[in-house]
Amino acid sequence: MKPPRKLHIKSYGCQMNVYDAQRMADTLTPEGFVETANVDDADLVILNTCHIREKASEKVYSELGRLRTIKEEAARNGRQVSIAVAGCVAQAEGQEIIRRAPAVDVVVGPQSYHHLPQLLVHAKRHGRALETEFPVEDKFGFLPPPQPQAIRARGISAFVTVQEGCDKFCSFCVVPYTRGAELSRPVARIVDDVRRLTDAGVREITLIGQNVNAYHGEGPDGRIWSLGKLLYHLAELPGIARLRYSTSHPRDVDQTLIEAHRDLPALMPFVHLPVQSGSDRILAAMNRKHSADDYRRVVDRFRAARQDIAFSSDFIVGFPGESREDFAATLALVTQIGYAAAYSFKYSPRPGTPAADLQETVSAAEMDERLVRLQGLIDSQQSAFNQAAIGRTVDVLFERAARNPGQMVGRTAYLQPAHVMASPDIVGRVLPVTIESLERYSLLGTLAPSAHARPSSPLHTGA
Ligand code: SAH
Ligand code: SF4
Ligand code: F3S
Repeated sequence: MKPPRKLHIKSYGCQMNVYDAQRMADTLTPEGFVETANVDDADLVILNTCHIREKASEKVYSELGRLRTIKEEAARNGRQVSIAVAGCVAQAEGQEIIRRAPAVDVVVGPQSYHHLPQLLVHAKRHGRALETEFPVEDKFGFLPPPQPQAIRARGISAFVTVQEGCDKFCSFCVVPYTRGAELSRPVARIVDDVRRLTDAGVREITLIGQNVNAYHGEGPDGRIWSLGKLLYHLAELPGIARLRYSTSHPRDVDQTLIEAHRDLPALMPFVHLPVQSGSDRILAAMNRKHSADDYRRVVDRFRAARQDIAFSSDFIVGFPGESREDFAATLALVTQIGYAAAYSFKYSPRPGTPAADLQETVSAAEMDERLVRLQGLIDSQQSAFNQAAIGRTVDVLFERAARNPGQMVGRTAYLQPAHVMASPDIVGRVLPVTIESLERYSLLGTLAPSAHARPSSPLHTGA
């Protein structure tokens, strides 16, 4: 038998890329690959890239420089190392990668990674391979890509893609170009994945998509199902303790999704709802097609349905034309909403997007200053949110042993890491924990006495 070949995947960017990296590994396992955490050991290195901001994109070329050295060194020792570039930079700049990085053997876009085994064979026989075609359009919309290898569980929590691509075309964003048009997977396929995962011990499923609440997949009844309807259905499946979904667009929040938060205890009260800016003028220039007030109303509807719901968001500072007043409106919105967490970024013009043609008006220094102010405000909200857990008893889904001996770590409903001293058999269970202190972003506590008294139903999710 041939010895297994070693595979190292380095992933950048969003949750979808994390998921894709796992699926690439799943696709290559039957080909005799095993994963290694050490890049120097690998026979195949895949860079799963992100194109969202210039910094993310440029990283790829410096990383490829490093890999080239590793590849040349291995070749001197008689060992052949292959390099593949996957993900959104591969999609956007495939030809340029081929031109700029001669060490690369395969370039494969996010819609084509199930072809990796064939592409690797092709590269060996005929030289470098590039595959970045989108699925062929047909009269029913987009043909679903062929099913890659069955999904494999990796722990207590898992991502399942329900939707890919985006039709929103925010003026700053590359995603509609790198991930293509919105495509929803049929409900039956999603249920298959979820069952496979829960059978293997997964307790928490996060449904992912670039625009997850635009989900409109074919249901078993032949009708089109929304994300809310899908969540109601999945909540019925045995073994599911927690459901989440990410990332949502404020425009696609419908009543069924709101009601799902009211009705489903398994649906976690934590929603990532990017808004980007608090200024209507900037929102219009960003082509977001919602106002700051529309966003506030969506948040209010969620809060009316489930009072312990919390939000995270994404913000861009320094979009072309963003005045001091516009930025002040963003700070005001953040103050008003009160976030549990949020990401903020300096605007980065991306080639091919409409905003790249706009005159940049905010100086680098001003952008830095706005970012620091916004992040300061968000940090203070996040630490207030975390502090508020101290003294309370909250449900924690335990995931694994922590670094400190004897300590176990899990997550609260709000994804806060929580540490307790406990035996390893609590992995996979949702148990109440009394929070005693906060260390940076991590909660420390003890298992509440009732945790020992009551049956350890994984379905217990009461807040
Ligand atoms: N639909 C996905 C989009 C992924 S991009 C989602 O909402 O998560 C994640 C975030 O990156 C966006 O919400 C936006 O805040 C930020 N971003 C996207 N393009 C950007 C750009 N050109 N410059 C700076 N930040 C950007
Ligand atoms: Fe990008 Fe906007 Fe689509 Fe999100 S909704 S992926 S920001 S175009
Ligand atoms: Fe990046 Fe592509 Fe995700 S650009 S954020 S990896 S969809």
